[in-house]
Amino acid sequence: MYVHQVTVKKSYQHDVLIIGSGAAGMTAALQLPAHLRIALLSKVEIQSGSTWYAQGGVAAVFDDSDSIENHVADTLAAGAGLCHPDVVESTISRGPAAMRWLIEQGVEFSRTDSGDYHLTKEGGHSRRRILHTADATGQAISGTLAKRVAERQNVSVFEHHVVVDLTTQADAGSRSLRCNGAYALDTQRDRVSLFQARIVVLATGGASKAYLYTSNPDGATGDGIAVAWRRGCRIANMEFNQFHPTCLFHPRAKSFLVSEALRGEGGHLLLPDGSRFMHDFHRDGELAPRDIVARAIDHEMKRLGSDCVYLDISHKPKNFIESHFPTVHSHCLEFGIDITREPIPVVPAAHYTCGGIVTDLNGKTDLKNLYAVGECAFTGLHGANRMASNSLLECLVFAGAAATHIAQNIDQVPVPSFTKAWDASRVTYSDEDVVISHNWDELRRFMWDYVGIVRTRKRLERAEHRIRLLQNEIQEYYANYKVSSDLLELRNLAMASELIIRSALLRKESRGLHYTLDHMEQLPVVKDTILVPMNFAGQDIIVSKK
Ligand code: FAD
Ligand code: SIN
Repeated sequence: MYVHQVTVKKSYQHDVLIIGSGAAGMTAALQLPAHLRIALLSKVEIQSGSTWYAQGGVAAVFDDSDSIENHVADTLAAGAGLCHPDVVESTISRGPAAMRWLIEQGVEFSRTDSGDYHLTKEGGHSRRRILHTADATGQAISGTLAKRVAERQNVSVFEHHVVVDLTTQADAGSRSLRCNGAYALDTQRDRVSLFQARIVVLATGGASKAYLYTSNPDGATGDGIAVAWRRGCRIANMEFNQFHPTCLFHPRAKSFLVSEALRGEGGHLLLPDGSRFMHDFHRDGELAPRDIVARAIDHEMKRLGSDCVYLDISHKPKNFIESHFPTVHSHCLEFGIDITREPIPVVPAAHYTCGGIVTDLNGKTDLKNLYAVGECAFTGLHGANRMASNSLLECLVFAGAAATHIAQNIDQVPVPSFTKAWDASRVTYSDEDVVISHNWDELRRFMWDYVGIVRTRKRLERAEHRIRLLQNEIQEYYANYKVSSDLLELRNLAMASELIIRSALLRKESRGLHYTLDHMEQLPVVKDTILVPMNFAGQDIIVSKK
């Protein structure tokens, strides 16, 4: 690993450093005790990450006709045999309390005319169980939690700080290392600062930006996964990158999702000739699990040579559409599509990283004093295919569990000792930024073409060859030039992509989101793909059993 040698411009000391201010990071910050001094970092504004963009809602048992057992059974079925049942049960049973906490923070979920919470439906759910704020649930959660964070005296928010790498020190009394902070690039002042902390929590979101077409915002570059891997943490199940079936297809529309809730409320998927097709692929039609719907659309588009398929909800009353889907309605209107009168052109796009940093039920990783929560973590909840609206649930439940565990144990964690400061004295400003933009484009293009919805061994090997070349070029560039946020993100995205490709090559079956023409069947023995780094940190965490 190339490491810049050291001069520090600025350093900070906190009890807990939380990297990421999405649902997971802000929940952790708010559930930690008020006497702890917390730094909360975001690489852009505090309301950022995929959380802000979430549309459909949060799944939890909130109705007497539903039960924990039903939600568990649906999650296990969507996960195609790879979910960890103990994690599914514990997460889902803690769901209702997590939702009540959100409501106490002030999140206003949509209600019916009689005043009850309106529960919507999405793929894989056998019941209506998704709490939502119309189709802008993420904005409601992110906005509310950001307000609560602003009220907390003990939480210092550092926006526009991109974490470069974690720092470690020898752990007294053992031969292992412990995490004691991170270097972060302050992108507004163009300097690297050192954040020291007794405990570090990664809440950096997913890596779907690895693909050319994605529903995710720009920052979804797998930073947490890459920094944890570089510091010796295991990474699991990265081959399971979820493709959302319905993103708006329009030459000027960047990354806009058309919520699965449109199908939950009766929307139909149509071929260009206006015929429905999903019942040819699954008995639940449009509400089959996401991997099946995305693959069916991909199949039909390739078969017909079509650029997109269509999602039609125009048979529903106009006022119903406008009140349930105001965001989708107004956004589509900007592109001249009136969803109350006509179908929406849609295509699948990379959406969610089911794999990530291996953690236990408290969010603890392999590296001592390092936790990981939210989309960057692998907990065992999602298996081979995450069920809709279970992600925000996971963020809330695991951030809460990590906060409780940290509160119970932080007294035993010493304050960090000296860490070498950042040294940029041997690197120069690059006059060749085209290398970064070229590699970004190349990476995302070959990931889309070779590591997409339908895979083959040959395509994966091509991708493996290219990622090696790219990794060498990026490492050389990183070692010689001053860091910028584009370079840091590219470095991390290349790392995350390498982990996706390696994991995909290791799985010799088709299961859930990993579908390969070379191994169409499922193997009888169900196993996670766990990648172990050369410098494995090896903390003795008890990971749930598959
Ligand atoms: P994020 O919300 O992605 O936040 C990541 C944070 O980390 C950001 O603050 C970012 O700035 C920061 N960060 C990243 N790298 C660094 C770094 N190097 N240094 C400093 N900070 C860093 N799930 C559902 O359950 N229901 C839904 O309805 C739903 N709808 C979705 C719609 C869209 C369009 C998308 C993209 C996703 C949706 N998902 C949904 C998935 C869900 O929104 C995400 O999985 C979830 O919000 C992830 O939350 P998080 O806190 O883990 O990360
Ligand atoms: C959506 O609204 O379709 C996204 C839901 C999710 O990803 O869970």
